[in-house]
Amino acid sequence: MMDEARYGALREAVENHLLRVTREEWGGIPHPLRDAMAYSLLSGGKRLRPVLLLAAHELIAPWDGAALRFAGALEMIHTYSLIHDDLPAMDNDTLRRGKPTCHVVYGEGMAVLAGDGLLNLAMEEMLSSDHPGTLAAARAVAGAAGVRGMIAGQCLDLAHEGQEPSPELVSSIHRLKTACLLTAPMEAGLILAGAHEGQLAAGSAFGRLFGLAFQIRDDLLDRTGSEAALGKHTGKDTAEGKLTWPALYGEEQARADVARLTEEACGRLREAFGDKADFLCGIAQECVQRNH
Ligand code: IPE
Ligand code: IPE
Ligand code: MG
Ligand code: MG
Ligand code: MG
Repeated sequence: MMDEARYGALREAVENHLLRVTREEWGGIPHPLRDAMAYSLLSGGKRLRPVLLLAAHELIAPWDGAALRFAGALEMIHTYSLIHDDLPAMDNDTLRRGKPTCHVVYGEGMAVLAGDGLLNLAMEEMLSSDHPGTLAAARAVAGAAGVRGMIAGQCLDLAHEGQEPSPELVSSIHRLKTACLLTAPMEAGLILAGAHEGQLAAGSAFGRLFGLAFQIRDDLLDRTGSEAALGKHTGKDTAEGKLTWPALYGEEQARADVARLTEEACGRLREAFGDKADFLCGIAQECVQRNH
């Protein structure tokens, strides 16, 4: 069972931070770029990545302002990845978080720039603090989001549309496009909190295993979920010939893999953190049973 009150409190801290930043610190960004960025960033979502970062920090010590900046940056990078993922040249989606996608409202050119802008701002946000863990944490996030991480996964996802899925390829796509951005907040949160090697390795393993389970669940929801609950159109993966876990293994096996990977993820975290891992394990458990 997830501690919903604790998740809600972290999510609210993130939400308030993002609201404050967009209102007070986004002066000088020209319209309509600023509106396009704010439209997507403030349109809801689970805020999972920033919550993971703060919760990972709490495994070792209470989080602070520097960690909150990093958490906001992770959500900016995630939102940028969604804006670009939805573009006609990529997944061509018109609904995201229950609202028309960024390019539907602001046009494709402005959506490309809004994504670029959020990514760049995220870098500025991370590098704006003199916390001793800043460089190492920012390097972990930049690497995970980059051309050997999330962008690499998006490349494979796109390049292999319509092809026969193989276990190696589907696993690479899922690990890169999704698990990397769920591992990054674990690593950044732990680095900022001063974790030692062993703790960092456990947090990374949790992110990688849970991240893979998370994308398999996303694939399942695209087949069986409700558009109203998800806030995005369903049935897209089959229509676009995406290489998904259920397409390769079937839905039943995919469900079993989600459960197995999540168990494994939690086991790795518990080995290093004992009962303190309960909250993050609860989040993982909840997320892989989610309907949104
Ligand atoms: C959607 O991520 C993209 C995937 C990696 C599957 P989320 O399911 O975390 O989306 P939001 O942030 O809650 O909208
Ligand atoms: C998204 O994978 C991965 C990233 C945005 C990096 P999907 O394309 O399956 O995500 P949804 O289903 O559109 O949210
Ligand atoms: Mg995609
Ligand atoms: Mg998509
Ligand atoms: Mg999907």
